[in-house]
Amino acid sequence: MQPCRAQHPFGSGSKRLFWGKDGKARTPMRKLFKSEAKAGMSSPTIWDDVGLNQHAARELEVLFGEKAAFETPKPEFLLQRIIHIATNTGDLVLDSFAGSGTTGAVAHKMGRRWIMVELGEHAQTHIVPRLRKVIDGEDKGGVTEVTGWQGGGGFRFYRLAPSLLEVDKWGRWIISKEYNPAMLAEAMCKHMGFTYSPSQDKAEYWKHGHSSERDFIYVTTLAMTHDQLRAISEDVGPDRTLLICCKAFNARIDDFDNLTVTKIPHAILSRCEWGKDDYSLKIASLPEREPPDELEPAVKPAGKAKPARTFAPTLFDCDED
Ligand SMILES: C[S@@+](CC[C@H](N)C(=O)[O-])C[C@H]1O[C@@H](n2cnc3c(N)ncnc32)[C@H](O)[C@@H]1O
Repeated sequence: MQPCRAQHPFGSGSKRLFWGKDGKARTPMRKLFKSEAKAGMSSPTIWDDVGLNQHAARELEVLFGEKAAFETPKPEFLLQRIIHIATNTGDLVLDSFAGSGTTGAVAHKMGRRWIMVELGEHAQTHIVPRLRKVIDGEDKGGVTEVTGWQGGGGFRFYRLAPSLLEVDKWGRWIISKEYNPAMLAEAMCKHMGFTYSPSQDKAEYWKHGHSSERDFIYVTTLAMTHDQLRAISEDVGPDRTLLICCKAFNARIDDFDNLTVTKIPHAILSRCEWGKDDYSLKIASLPEREPPDELEPAVKPAGKAKPARTFAPTLFDCDED
């Protein structure tokens, strides 16, 4: 059935009511002038007061001192409107395609927390410096004045490492070929809750990291034999303990009070959550970064007891700003 166009209050002659560009749309559309909008109406779909891409390009030029290579940058006032509508102070704002970092910069100035994800190098070359300026109170542009922003806060910058494990042609989990020994040692330290700090002393080749001043980690792609483990156990001695992450082992582990031995794929896989419906990342409970130079006291008194290994894995390679 055709809609009865002539009987509509606006009348088809007024051109305030129309059925799409070609006049064939099933749903009528109504033109409304800004002066007719009443308080309490839903937001108009055209925002003509939040700036244009050109304004955003100018904002970036001021920030970076160059014509930045972003094709469609958004003005800070646009992001301010969106963030204002959708969030409250303290909320978490996510932009998983961060571009020049406008979302995070505005969210920060508006007292929101934020997460940005960006795969381009401009994460490092543009977003980090931009957010640093916001934090240092050096970014005077965009919404700085209207939000009364004067600087403060901070952020952490993480670089996502390649996947540590991959499945081989027989369907078994193996260590990714992208990892060289140093990368592997560092990644395992991270996963197992150790601080990566490889010893420069060749005699202590097994010291790849520590969790306390007496508890260490050794990462190797070797399959460890009983004799090899005995030799390491003697080096470690009675006053220290060592977690060995290796490809495989063939030994009576109980013979060595100061060693804990685990297989790398198994150690990682047991920390992954497979088969769950909800993989939501618990952002709020991400571990705080530890101060770099302080060593915690040994968890257990020196001697025979191995430390209880309660790992707090973090999944990212992290540089802090
Ligand atoms: C058009 S920009 C978005 C900029 C910003 N969100 C805005 O609205 O102004 C899209 C960005 O997403 C990035 N990107 C594309 N695919 C991505 C991915 N899979 N993960 C992270 N970033 C990605 C691109 O490098 C580009 O910088």
